[in-house]
Amino acid sequence: MMNLLKVFSLLIALSARISYAAQPIYGQCGGTGYSGDTTCVSGAVCTKVNDFYYQCLPGTQTSTGSTTTTTTTTTTTGGSTTTSTPVATPTNPAGQAYATTCTLAPLSPTQVPSGGKPPDDTPRILDVFKRCQTNASITLSEGFWYIGQVMDTLNFRDVEINLLGRFEWSTDIQYWLRNSISVTYAQRSTAWRLGGTNVQLLGHGKALFFGNGQTWYDQNQNQGNQAGRPISLTVWRGTNILIDGITWRQPQFWHTFVANSDNVTMTNLDMNATSATRWSTVNTDGTNTWNSRNIFIKNWVVTSGDDCICAKGNTTNMHVNNVTCHESGCMVVGSLGNPTNVVDNVDNVLFENIKCIHSSNAAWIKTYAGTGRVNNITFRNFEFDDVNQPIYLTPCIYTGQNCDGSRLGINNVRWENIKGTSRYNIGAAIHCSAAAPCQNFTFSGIDIKQKNGGGAVKYLGSNIANQASSGLAFTGTCAANWPQQLDGNR
Ligand SMILES: *[C@@H]1O[C@H](CO)[C@@H](O)[C@H](O)[C@H]1NC(C)=O
Ligand SMILES: *[C@@H]1O[C@H](CO)[C@@H](O)[C@H](O)[C@H]1NC(C)=O
Ligand SMILES: *[C@@H]1O[C@H](CO)[C@@H](O)[C@H](O)[C@H]1NC(C)=O
Ligand SMILES: *[C@@H]1O[C@H](CO)[C@@H](O)[C@H](O)[C@H]1NC(C)=O
Ligand SMILES: *[C@@H]1O[C@H](CO)[C@@H](O)[C@H](O)[C@H]1NC(C)=O
Ligand SMILES: *[C@@H]1O[C@H](CO)[C@@H](O)[C@H](O)[C@H]1NC(C)=O
Ligand SMILES: *[C@@H]1O[C@H](CO)[C@@H](O)[C@H](O)[C@H]1NC(C)=O
Repeated sequence: MMNLLKVFSLLIALSARISYAAQPIYGQCGGTGYSGDTTCVSGAVCTKVNDFYYQCLPGTQTSTGSTTTTTTTTTTTGGSTTTSTPVATPTNPAGQAYATTCTLAPLSPTQVPSGGKPPDDTPRILDVFKRCQTNASITLSEGFWYIGQVMDTLNFRDVEINLLGRFEWSTDIQYWLRNSISVTYAQRSTAWRLGGTNVQLLGHGKALFFGNGQTWYDQNQNQGNQAGRPISLTVWRGTNILIDGITWRQPQFWHTFVANSDNVTMTNLDMNATSATRWSTVNTDGTNTWNSRNIFIKNWVVTSGDDCICAKGNTTNMHVNNVTCHESGCMVVGSLGNPTNVVDNVDNVLFENIKCIHSSNAAWIKTYAGTGRVNNITFRNFEFDDVNQPIYLTPCIYTGQNCDGSRLGINNVRWENIKGTSRYNIGAAIHCSAAAPCQNFTFSGIDIKQKNGGGAVKYLGSNIANQASSGLAFTGTCAANWPQQLDGNR
């Protein structure tokens, strides 16, 4: 009632003063160097974002403290909180209503101009994630979200998280190097670890994860993996996870990582890491999976500068469908078998309907001369253009040592319908170890030509037990020191 009266009297005041030029909602209303109007239209309050930027943010009152959220909607906008009954009740995949609906708006709904220091939204996001971590529908609404701190959110249960805005990670390299959260694998770490059971992270085609990666690419100066350089998003100990409709630009490091998880579906994702300077992005993979089972990936477009989709050790049951990768290693199994005394298996992986454009590889298996196995892998319906190494298998990755002594078995692998153009004169180079020859390799529909009307390609194979019946007319073998990366014709 109070609010209605207030709005009403403001409307009267406005209509009585036609020439009054208040700033619109989300318009600037103050800050160092600003000389425009410092008042806001009705329904908005001029709010300090930082010394350089004051903004008209929705709301007519200010309140602090938390609000009970059960069966109500809590909307927090630029520091003010309102509570109302939800209009439509979101339901979980089983069709049941969520017990709680929680909505949060960013501190700064519009982008803070460069030179200004954006407000850090992380504490408020972590607060709503904690208050609404069970049986809840959470919405982070449209606008600009600034993430200045790590997020470790592992206890969600029966939750959907709707992300409608742009999420920008801070460029405070020293902070991230010290605080990124370990994900164990190869001493890597992450900016956001997400876990729990029955969790949906939904971008609705609107969420943009902007990692400010250029800062990372420039400071890394083409060095390899850098300790503390954070993976954008890691699914960690997750069960029944759905990630859908999110766009990534300029991630800090790998776009995503899936570890220690079961039943993870990742659909309709758009990723692009591209450096604008002379320094390469280095290790901005699309995704890697590790110690996880039942992974479903569909409808992705990725520009990665490194592996696009990669099944690492102990990945079991993975299905990748309809993915286009630019500037990448495209579809990869490995590297696995390192350290060499750890069992590392990859079983039951299907990659199908894949496009690889201007990439190092198309369908690649790479292992150390370690312990474990690669079994039951299918690469099916690949189209590619200008790829260095279309079909490739490396048994002694990075070390180049003991290639023929590796006992990591690689068996039951199929390449079906693999068509496109290669950069060099090699269509396939399958270098199996002499100590553990590959078994049950089959090829069908292999049609590879050198790009720009170059000559025929070579198909090279070593130590394939069933080579004669494999379906591919091999033209030679791989030399003992066969390289993991080609840099020209052979
Ligand atoms: C969530 O809460 C609603 C309302 O209390 C309830 O009907 C539903 O069963 C709960 N869902 C789960 C998965 O517990
Ligand atoms: C796997 O997760 C999806 C949600 O992404 C869910 O619909 C499905 O029921 C889960 N499968 C199993 C076997 O729990
Ligand atoms: C990725 O981003 C770069 C730089 O903005 C752009 O040139 C390129 O076209 C993008 N890739 C795709 C596939 O859109
Ligand atoms: C494949 O994925 C792209 C988006 O990456 C989508 O536009 C297209 O419709 C998908 N194709 C099929 C057959 O689902
Ligand atoms: C793979 O799983 C096995 C069996 O659970 C485990 O011993 C091994 O350490 C795992 N490998 C890696 C690389 O984590
Ligand atoms: C081989 O992997 C496929 C998935 O690509 C799976 O459907 C099939 O059941 C697996 N075969 C065996 C024998 O495990
Ligand atoms: C190769 O395939 C045959 C026939 O399906 C099967 O009996 C054998 O176990 C396979 N070899 C390996 C190493 O899986």
